[in-house]
Amino acid sequence: MNRWKNRWAVITGASAGIGWALAEQLAVGGAKLVLTARRRDRLDQLAEKLGADHHATVEVFPVDLAKPGAAAELVAFTHGKGIEVDLLINNAGFGAYGEFHKRSLDRFRDMVQVNVSAVVELTHRYLAGMIERRCGDIMIVASTAAFQPVPYISCYAATKGFDLLFAEGLAEEVRRYGIRVLALCPGPTDTEFSAVAGESQRHFRFAEKADKVARTGLEALSAGKTYVVSGWLNYLQVHAERLAPRPFIARSAAAVLSPSDHDDQ
Ligand SMILES: NC(=O)c1ccc[n+]([C@@H]2O[C@H](COP(=O)([O-])OP(=O)(O)OC[C@H]3O[C@@H](n4cnc5c(N)ncnc54)[C@H](OP(=O)(O)O)[C@@H]3O)[C@@H](O)[C@H]2O)c1
Repeated sequence: MNRWKNRWAVITGASAGIGWALAEQLAVGGAKLVLTARRRDRLDQLAEKLGADHHATVEVFPVDLAKPGAAAELVAFTHGKGIEVDLLINNAGFGAYGEFHKRSLDRFRDMVQVNVSAVVELTHRYLAGMIERRCGDIMIVASTAAFQPVPYISCYAATKGFDLLFAEGLAEEVRRYGIRVLALCPGPTDTEFSAVAGESQRHFRFAEKADKVARTGLEALSAGKTYVVSGWLNYLQVHAERLAPRPFIARSAAAVLSPSDHDDQ
């Protein structure tokens, strides 16, 4: 993680799960951090911990990325502090499990805003400075759900499909400016994600730890990869599925993910 020693990293969704783990690992490597999410108390707690454990320099900026204008506020905050961002981690995101028509439209609007629009906006705004300096790295947290249709999390999977394609395409565009872009694709991971999505724990039986997923992402970005799937089984699954007809994959996923009486939707 020494690649980012004494450099500034912005991490969205740092108040929990994979974002929290990314912050800890970057602090160990000597990076300076801007932590953002909605829950200020969690961000303050993490900042205090990273300061005490690793003497990390940390700024905290709570913001709701579902609100239009929030991404611009975050960028104005870092510019106002004279912070040159060399690593942007677009990690904030959430899902919503269940039949699409039974969940509120507002939830899906917010999901597209956080998982897609804020990612595009933060990437565009921070990329300008990176290109000027010919230096910068961007990580976008996608998902194994990005590789195929996934019934009962259809909208979420589509947002992650966007994240994956956006990251891979952009990586090739900006390579000539010395900038790296990576899509990190975790499979089920032990975080607050399932509770927020309202998804049954039975879908997370073989979940990876957030620390492991974060390390996989940072190592892949350091190595110059443009995407990485965390976990060998997840890797085999997404690539094996690509060989099968798409309707078959969608139908099989529907059979596994269909809400049952045991699910607390
Ligand atoms: N866990 C999994 O199984 C899994 C699998 C594949 C991909 N992923 C992806 O991994 C990323 C991190 O998720 P996680 O698993 O670590 O889940 P998590 O523990 O629920 O963390 C999600 C983070 O996103 C932040 N966030 C959510 N809505 C936000 C908003 N409106 N504005 C600002 N921040 C917001 C949350 O902070 P606040 O609530 O404080 O705002 C939190 O810090 C997400 O993009 C997710 O799609 C997760």
